[in-house]
Amino acid sequence: SVTPVTITITGAGGQIGYALLFRVASGAMLGPDTPVRLNLLEIPQGLRAAEGAALELQDCAFPLLHQVEVYDDPKAAFRGTSHALLVGARPRAAGMERGDLLAANGGIFGPQGEAINAGAADDVRVVVVGNPANTNALIASAHAPDVPADRFTALTRLDHNRALGQLAPAMDTPVGDIRNVTIWGNHSATQFPDVAHATAAGDPVPALLAARLGGVDAAREWIVDEFIPRVAKRGAEIIEVRGSSSVASAANAAIDHMRDWVHGTTGGWTSAAVVSDGSYGVPEDLVSSFPVESVDGSWRIVQGLSLDAFAQHRLATSVAELVDERDAVRALDLI
Ligand code: NAI
Repeated sequence: SVTPVTITITGAGGQIGYALLFRVASGAMLGPDTPVRLNLLEIPQGLRAAEGAALELQDCAFPLLHQVEVYDDPKAAFRGTSHALLVGARPRAAGMERGDLLAANGGIFGPQGEAINAGAADDVRVVVVGNPANTNALIASAHAPDVPADRFTALTRLDHNRALGQLAPAMDTPVGDIRNVTIWGNHSATQFPDVAHATAAGDPVPALLAARLGGVDAAREWIVDEFIPRVAKRGAEIIEVRGSSSVASAANAAIDHMRDWVHGTTGGWTSAAVVSDGSYGVPEDLVSSFPVESVDGSWRIVQGLSLDAFAQHRLATSVAELVDERDAVRALDLI
């Protein structure tokens, strides 16, 4: 029989945790041939919720699920882990300044990075979901000097999937036919959802939109005034309509991210926040969203895409925000 792989999920007692655990245990993330052990990490206030979820996992009798452990000690939770989904984070409380928020999260992601450095498996892959996701990934990576920086990523796949979800009805095309959408920059309102290189069933999306909306100018207007803000502010829209933040879609995106990282992308690229190698002028070492393909178990930034003046401006704006966040955590000695 195959040896189970260890998956660590932080914030496992929270909402996204609850939407994530059962799908991961059923094989949706690593596939039907990989048995798993789940290590759930919580803080003391969240332990009972995580323990309750563990009882329900037992009651599902998932054949792939070999073991569930609940911890409040990061060192124990990350020991031997090869897949770490860092969901638990400190939300922004009313009146909290950005510096306070970054400091509070530094207190979470610094020690978790150290625990990953100390005890995770050699092939560990980390995806940060908890916000501010890109900068939390940067902090965790900075505390794990023995783990290659490209193993620390942040989730922008939800933004990517949201973009697909907006494009499909706008072009009256099945969502599965759309390829090569990109989310650039930070997982925040400054992100740049980019359709310039996207295709639907092989045809260029900008031309399809122009044909449907009555010309190139109308298509551009729709992209700039409707599509981009709708995607970038979709989180707020979900809160407004649902009365609670995105949960199942966030968990789904985290599963998509990890599955593609392990098993590879086919037929085009996706979006993920990965450590920059300087591509597209994004300063090295920032964790920024790029168009990426997963090849042989590693993310590779898609090279050579043209960015027009608008795209360059949008990317630069989001990257400036990432630089600000990095400088703030540096000033706080968090990296
Ligand atoms: P939640 O508040 O329901 O759950 C968070 C859980 O994390 C809580 O149970 C809490 O006890 C736990 N936690 C806090 N600090 C921890 C620590 N140091 N170690 C382990 N667990 C810890 O929140 P929800 O809805 O599950 O969201 C989680 C995070 O995901 C939030 O930061 C949210 O902003 C973020 N998010 C990110 C998205 C993305 O696309 N990147 C999309 C949606 C949410």
